[in-house]
Amino acid sequence: MNVYDSERMSEALGGQGYVDTQTPENADMILLNTCHIREKAAEKVYSELGRFKGLKAAKPDLKIGVAGCVAQAEGAEIIRRQPMVDLVVGPQSYHRLPDMEAQVQTGIRVLDTDFPEETKFDRLAKRPKAMRGPTAFLTVQEGCDKFCTFCVVPYTRGVEVSRPAERVLAEARDLVDRGVREITLLGQNVNAYHGAGPDGADWSLARLIWALDEIDGLERIRFITSHPNDMSDDLIAAHGECARLMPYLHLPVQSGSDKILKQMNRGHTAESYVRLIERIRAARPDILLSGDFIVGFPEETEADFQDTLDLISEVRYGHAYSFKYSARPGTPAAERVQVDADQANDRLQCLQALIRRQQRDIQDTMVGRELSVLFEKPGRKTGQMVGKSEYMHAVHVEDETLARGDIAPVRIVASVSNSLSGERI
Ligand code: 5AD
Ligand code: SF4
Repeated sequence: MNVYDSERMSEALGGQGYVDTQTPENADMILLNTCHIREKAAEKVYSELGRFKGLKAAKPDLKIGVAGCVAQAEGAEIIRRQPMVDLVVGPQSYHRLPDMEAQVQTGIRVLDTDFPEETKFDRLAKRPKAMRGPTAFLTVQEGCDKFCTFCVVPYTRGVEVSRPAERVLAEARDLVDRGVREITLLGQNVNAYHGAGPDGADWSLARLIWALDEIDGLERIRFITSHPNDMSDDLIAAHGECARLMPYLHLPVQSGSDKILKQMNRGHTAESYVRLIERIRAARPDILLSGDFIVGFPEETEADFQDTLDLISEVRYGHAYSFKYSARPGTPAAERVQVDADQANDRLQCLQALIRRQQRDIQDTMVGRELSVLFEKPGRKTGQMVGKSEYMHAVHVEDETLARGDIAPVRIVASVSNSLSGERI
């Protein structure tokens, strides 16, 4: 979502005459879009700011801003601690960037971490008409009401809000007009989507996906990230019935221990998650599953951790993100007895080794199969293109005639460390 937000911020400032640069030395303004989900991500912001001190000294007109969830969580503290920061803007108010920029130019330091009544999406400038790559993100839902006890999202991104379906469809049509063939719908809790439909009814994510399915030229639809309890029947059915909905599902479970799941306030058990996976696989047997795991949550014992390994063995993941628990100030779990850091590290290594084996095994089963690949960019070798299969595996193909944005059938001939290679059929 930060990738999406960064694009929109850059577009918002485009109206003030700004253009992107990859080189901080060339910049008139540096805007750090930040993540607060774990301590490491938040700390990065301060070390990055340190790197820009010299630049600001050499070029006093340079404006430095902090955006995103660290800005939201730390607000005035950043302005106080970092005299070189001119602008602090939270994730819900960045549509006001043009006004803020004008203020900053007069020497005022600006702090805006409001949750405004108007939604930023309605106020943002329309995206410029440039052509884009073949894939795009599209935010449909933001915030979360689940309040998992480890998580800052409900505090930094706010309550759950869905964009009206017609707005999402208009943005999708516009992206397709500019060459996009695959759209990934984004939301912190995307499958809880319940945006107002043009017919006055609340639309579910499945209904939105079926409406997107009617857009000519949009070939692939994905969504991320989902909560098990919002995996509704119509969404499960769509995985079996909607050909453009890709067979890949990111469905975090966090832990396999019912004791820990309860303490996390997840609202589901390991068993109910496994049953849910069975129903999803009944609708779409080849679906590739991805997950999120936290190890070392407060009071996690070896037996709890073993439950997580058992769940992973039962489900079989094609991909996963895994993290060591990071105590976040203001969240309930941060108050509980923490697990020893070395023990948590050992568990993370062990879990990641298991996931790597599963990931590799599933990737290896692709050899000999015919997959459909959306080509995104040239590979390292000349004449080589890299794209993604339906299952999100990176696929390398050597073929001079392939162009960016092509979708072509490919026979997979080899599975190497993190990707597949194939031949165009
Ligand atoms: N510590 C470690 N991992 C966390 N996540 C969220 N909060 C924390 C935390 N405090 C992980 C969860 C979530 C993903 C986006 O980040 O696994 O699904
Ligand atoms: Fe955080 Fe996801 Fe839980 Fe919401 S459902 S509180 S975003 S981990």
